[in-house]
Amino acid sequence: MGPYRDIVILTGAGVSAESGVRTFRDNDGLWEEHRVEDVATPEAFARDPKLVQRFYNLRRAQLPTVQPNDAHKAIARLQKELDGRVTVVTQNVDNLHERGGAEGVIHMHGELCRVRCVHCGMRHDWTTDCTQATPCPSCGAAPGLRPDIVWFGEMPYHMDLIYTRLRACDLFISVGTSGNVYPAAGFVAEVRRIGHAHTIEVNLEPSAGVSYFEECRHGMAGELMPPLVDELLKKGQ
Ligand code: APR
Repeated sequence: MGPYRDIVILTGAGVSAESGVRTFRDNDGLWEEHRVEDVATPEAFARDPKLVQRFYNLRRAQLPTVQPNDAHKAIARLQKELDGRVTVVTQNVDNLHERGGAEGVIHMHGELCRVRCVHCGMRHDWTTDCTQATPCPSCGAAPGLRPDIVWFGEMPYHMDLIYTRLRACDLFISVGTSGNVYPAAGFVAEVRRIGHAHTIEVNLEPSAGVSYFEECRHGMAGELMPPLVDELLKKGQ
């Protein structure tokens, strides 16, 4: 198999686990006695915006305290050194791929470090707290800013671009995702339907979609990704 010239890498919470990023499902899926589904929905924001803003403010404030790990760095190295295209699609809202050196990362579930105005639609980079009293830097409305996060029940971002890349790739790698949340969980099936790409799963345990993958490597992403990247770069020479 290979050399590969057009690789799509899908990542999920598992790629950031070794960095110590607290996931949605820490503490049995509870955050301060609230079910996560009760803070990560448009309905929750309408019902209790202060609570939802605080949830994301805490997660945003955590970002400077965590560092990219060997999996993020290996993915960035592949992007830089492969004679070809490497598209990184992530379900994560942290910025560890970028801080590990990756470029053009497609954040299908949005980003913690961005807010969006519900009035004028403008997006802004954001590293501090955001409250209902914070005016939109573009139109001045307050309240108006919300985390630029795709909540349960909302449409993920950049789907046209992602499907275009999935259909064009010759290798699809899924790293650190449980394969439970669609549409990302369906990407491997789409790649197999087109039929001209090899598929690899890298995950701590077999994911819900494990049977779709032609090759599986089970263990820690920080340990498995550097040697996988070495192999791909060697094949590509
Ligand atoms: N290395 C590799 N895989 C790991 C590691 C690790 N160090 N640690 C955990 N994992 C695996 C787990 O075994 C699990 O299968 O990562 C997967 C993480 O699964 P989820 O927590 O379900 O995360 P993810 O698939 O990214 O969730 C998708 O669901 O919560 C919503 O919108 C949120 O983007 C998120 C989406």
